[in-house]
Amino acid sequence: MEKPKYYITTPIYYPSDKLHIGHTYCTVAADSMARFKRLCGYDVMFLTGTDEHGLKIEKLAREKGVTPQAYVDEIVAGIKELWKLMNITHDDFIRTTDERHVKSVQKIFKKLYDNGDIYKSEYEGWYCTPCESFWLDRQLVDGKCPDCGRPVQKTKEESYFFRLSKYADRLIEYINTHPDFIQPVSRKNEMLQNFLLPGLDDLCVSRTSFKWGIPVTFDDKHIIYVWVDALSNYITALGYGSDDESKYEKFWPADLHLVGKEIIRFHTIIWPIMLMALDLPMPKQVFGHGWINFDGDKMSKSKGNVVDPVTLADRYGVDALRYFLLREMPLGSDANFSNELLIKRINSDLANDLGNLLSRTVAMVEKYFGGEIKGDLCPAEEDETVRTMGSELHAKVTKEMDALRFSDALSDIWQYIGALNKYIDVTAPWILAKDEEKKDRLASVMYNLAEGLRIVGVLITPFLPDTAAKMKEQLGITDDAQYSWDSVQEYGKLAAGTMVKKGAALFPRIDAEKELAYLAEVLRKNMEAAAAKAAALNEPAKPEKEEPEFPEITIDDFMKVKLVVGKVLAAEEIKKSKKLYKLTVDCGEENPRTICAGIKAYYAAEELVGKSVVVVANLKPAKLGGVMSEGMVLAAGDDDVVALLKPEKDMAPGTLIH
Ligand code: MSP
Repeated sequence: MEKPKYYITTPIYYPSDKLHIGHTYCTVAADSMARFKRLCGYDVMFLTGTDEHGLKIEKLAREKGVTPQAYVDEIVAGIKELWKLMNITHDDFIRTTDERHVKSVQKIFKKLYDNGDIYKSEYEGWYCTPCESFWLDRQLVDGKCPDCGRPVQKTKEESYFFRLSKYADRLIEYINTHPDFIQPVSRKNEMLQNFLLPGLDDLCVSRTSFKWGIPVTFDDKHIIYVWVDALSNYITALGYGSDDESKYEKFWPADLHLVGKEIIRFHTIIWPIMLMALDLPMPKQVFGHGWINFDGDKMSKSKGNVVDPVTLADRYGVDALRYFLLREMPLGSDANFSNELLIKRINSDLANDLGNLLSRTVAMVEKYFGGEIKGDLCPAEEDETVRTMGSELHAKVTKEMDALRFSDALSDIWQYIGALNKYIDVTAPWILAKDEEKKDRLASVMYNLAEGLRIVGVLITPFLPDTAAKMKEQLGITDDAQYSWDSVQEYGKLAAGTMVKKGAALFPRIDAEKELAYLAEVLRKNMEAAAAKAAALNEPAKPEKEEPEFPEITIDDFMKVKLVVGKVLAAEEIKKSKKLYKLTVDCGEENPRTICAGIKAYYAAEELVGKSVVVVANLKPAKLGGVMSEGMVLAAGDDDVVALLKPEKDMAPGTLIH
């Protein structure tokens, strides 16, 4: 029989910086869901990726002095590493710079245009670069972006527009007749009240004032609006619009788009209308999760209070972090992250409740029965609670997971762990062990503990996969059928004769005082560094002031630049750098200068030697790729084509250019 399908997505993340605990939260939740569905027998497609175009990325790359592509490549590599570390089992990772995506987005745009849903006009309004959002006068709050509160830029340019207004009534009708489409319900009401019912304006869906994006095929000075580009990822990753649409046919519509609350607007207005206009089915559900704050405060790079998942996972283990995120943060609401809560959860829930239960059980089975689980030889009434709870847990966890209640699912499992710990106290195996006649009863107690741990081990698999595997090992279960998801639907599947194996503690206890001091110190340093950076930029810590890309300058400003003719005497690669050559340039001075130039992709070293170039001679020397560069050579072009500038006639090195 064909397996049922399940398609789940996370947002595709902006590679604008290192990802933090908030991004990790969403991906870990989606991963647990994907693992859960696979265990339940579904054919799962779990997609994540990166949203790499847009003005924000273009600016960041420029600030760093690299091409946008080089900039995103480096950050995306880090994001992939993070997901590997966090044990994320995505089936695909889409980058909006992938050719498969670019081609398909261009087809989507063209199709919308051909159908008359996209038309050309002029945009006049406001743009928030950090949110990549357009706003009208009436939507601004105190003249600022209503979403993030940062300054917006006045924008006036020829643009293509998407007829959102045409579909508004149909979307309202759809939302009202499909109560599960937007979850939680509060988000649905927010979308209806704040955006849909007041009326939708057509959406500006192309830009001409910057270049880092997907060009409109039939008008290539326009690039496609980054949200139209990004939202399409959910179908381009399935091959929509390509030669092979089999994955699209198989998995679309998505079962769940898991997204943060601030981007639910894009997913429940623009995206469904795009799908309507393309005549494609709607995703079954968009779930808007809450935000993680740090110590009650919004995390922000400029404050330096951003929690780094790598530090925590390296120090306390990936499963400890996964557990904390899923247990402590109910999906629908905002939640607070604090180091105290993290350490407390690790010590009490993981080291004490679960870790000790396993190590005590294994140690007792070894001590009393040479490591063998003899079986349920002498059941008694006092076993009833752990038996009943154990046999009901699978159904409970399944129900919670189907409703995306990760925290409740874990809480149910930990209640059972609590009952098993209590069972040790009530049955007091160390007393039974003193009486030879109670050996069979002792065997039953050991059986119930090991069986309970088997049930726990299987049911924590979607959340804490490594821990589940370690538990299987220590319980000595070698037959996978005894550790399958379905095997815990029934109590008592653990085979008599199983030999337990003592192993390392699942979660070593943490010295809370020492760790809290360490984490506080990390935070202090990060905040200090952020404050120093803000001070250096002479900016207040929060809003970034938007400068025009090229501010107007006076002739005096221009005259400060000393341009001279130079001649390249030698060019060699800088090993540390993908982009840079180290040039030796004769500028008519006593000694030739060393000048670094980021043109490796465009020229072979040999073809540079002997070339005349234009040199900025009074640029403050700076270290590039570890080499001190004493000036700059000028070149024309963007990321695709670069050409060095040279005087039209042969001129002696050192000749002034004005
Ligand atoms: N690129 C867009 C998404 C495009 S999807 C077609 C984007 N990227 S993002 O990197 O800024 O954010 C990605 C996700 O991370 C969002 O869902 C956002 O809500 C989530 N989070 C960012 N900070 C967060 C917290 N502090 N807490 C929880 N999630 C948060 O938006």
